Amino acid sequence: MEIKTDFLIIGSGIAGLSYALKVSPCGSVAIVTKKNSVESGTNYAQGGIAAVFDPEDSFNLHIKDTLTAGDGLCHRDVVELVVSEGPERIRELIKWGVPFTRSRKRGKMTFDLGREGGHSMRRILHCKDLTGREVERILLKKVEAHPNIRIFENHICIDLITSKKLGLKDGGKTACYGVYVLDNNSRKIHTVTAKVTLLASGGAGKTYLYTSNPDISTGDGIAMAYRAGARTANMEFIQFHPTCLYHPEAKNFLISEAVRGEGGILRLKDGTPFMKKYHPLKDLAPRDIVARAIDTELKKSGDECVYLDITHRRSNFLRHRFPNIYEKCLSFNIDMATMPIPVVPAAHYICGGALTNTFGETNIGGLFAVGEVACTGLHGANRLASNSLLEALVFSHRAATKSIEEVREKKHYPVPVPEWDPGNATDIDESVVISHNWDEIRRLMWHYVGIVRSNKRLERAQRRIELLQQEISDYYWDFIITSDLIELRNIATVAELIIRCALKRKESRGLHYTLDYPKKNDTVWNKDTVIQLRPKKNPVLCKPSSPQSNKRSNPSRFSLFSSVGEE
Ligand code: SIN
Repeated sequence: MEIKTDFLIIGSGIAGLSYALKVSPCGSVAIVTKKNSVESGTNYAQGGIAAVFDPEDSFNLHIKDTLTAGDGLCHRDVVELVVSEGPERIRELIKWGVPFTRSRKRGKMTFDLGREGGHSMRRILHCKDLTGREVERILLKKVEAHPNIRIFENHICIDLITSKKLGLKDGGKTACYGVYVLDNNSRKIHTVTAKVTLLASGGAGKTYLYTSNPDISTGDGIAMAYRAGARTANMEFIQFHPTCLYHPEAKNFLISEAVRGEGGILRLKDGTPFMKKYHPLKDLAPRDIVARAIDTELKKSGDECVYLDITHRRSNFLRHRFPNIYEKCLSFNIDMATMPIPVVPAAHYICGGALTNTFGETNIGGLFAVGEVACTGLHGANRLASNSLLEALVFSHRAATKSIEEVREKKHYPVPVPEWDPGNATDIDESVVISHNWDEIRRLMWHYVGIVRSNKRLERAQRRIELLQQEISDYYWDFIITSDLIELRNIATVAELIIRCALKRKESRGLHYTLDYPKKNDTVWNKDTVIQLRPKKNPVLCKPSSPQSNKRSNPSRFSLFSSVGEE
């Protein structure tokens, strides 16, 4: 089946949905999402959205905090535009019905502004501790009611379709024509052709063994963009959230930084608070510092976790301010009002991604990227807490403006695109290979490319990932594609990019800490780490040695892990 649309959106979180609402008056919109629409990174965001709403706060202070967290790599122009345009975008959300929590301050009802690590002021708008869920609920309701917007649930993207891959010339630069998607219900592969494509597919936490992210976060957008030739940057900067609930059954459950914002103290098993040894802001130090401090303490003590203690706050306050966290902890027999919460760090956010300009445009014509999939220059080497939903809102608005112009200029849909040809591919013979490789990648990333790195660990990881990629590549060519195989291929690509960027950066900065270069080196490394796949002049679309090479000779399947070029 071929689906034609003016605007194609990959992902259904805050970036994709708010963009959909903005472009929908100007053309047809298709949203492709790999589970149900509500399943997105946004839905799990507890903390909130950082923006200047308090009269005592200022753009300058928010800019300064963002730059400080970013450790010299933020692009100042981007920081300034996100911080200054943020409040207007949030007022839009309020108009659409997002119920941000309010409280009484100096006799007046105002927004209840939370505080998180690295912020010098209270500036986090939140809906109790369920901000993402509320934003997602409101946006989805509006999107579902819109006649111009179609949502394709349970559809997972395989690869972007580009002029280069089809061997066409389109105005000198590579152009994106849409995407091949696997319909998980029918198991059919459809061609989606679009005038403009937006990647809004979120992050890549599942590249690591422990993560606060939902299962969908397999870096699909970053991997597809890279394979299509997009410039990809700063992949070494993986943010580890210091406090995920430590309990064998509490998969991925985050204990929001807002708990420390309301006075939570990190303690060792014997009750000793330890953050004062590491930073003057103690428990509210930037995340990289807190996560590294916990890692150091755990390595020293051999303990499994540290403890987050907020028992000095009243039970009523905690139930009201953190209803979700309170209930979740209680379901594991942890009453946060009377006992400290066991916590460990976990992969939370990737600051790198597809490189964009200030309108969310990548270097590929017609391809935009917004949200965690993108690297806009806002976060630099470390994202300031609650700046991510803000970035998604500001950039989806800017990308929408540019996309509308582009769609107006394009009178026709792109050239006829060949349908996916499954050839003689057969069903996967041994699914255990997929699950084993999946587990191996996540484990090796956790152990060798985690909070503290070294040349030896990174080189070991690189050798392993090359072998795994070879095996995944063989599977990709020989068997019918499944969503598990697509995701495995994507986490392998993202893992490779993280390792390569980490090996390139010979210093420690922000979220990248290596024992071999423990200091920051501003003379050489005050720059983004940009990598780009440069296809060979005569791309080989199938492995000549493959016994089934005839079935792969159509341009719908593209080579995977080879032909690397960098700058
Ligand atoms: C949190 O609530 O701690 C997460 C907020 C964020 O990652 O920005």
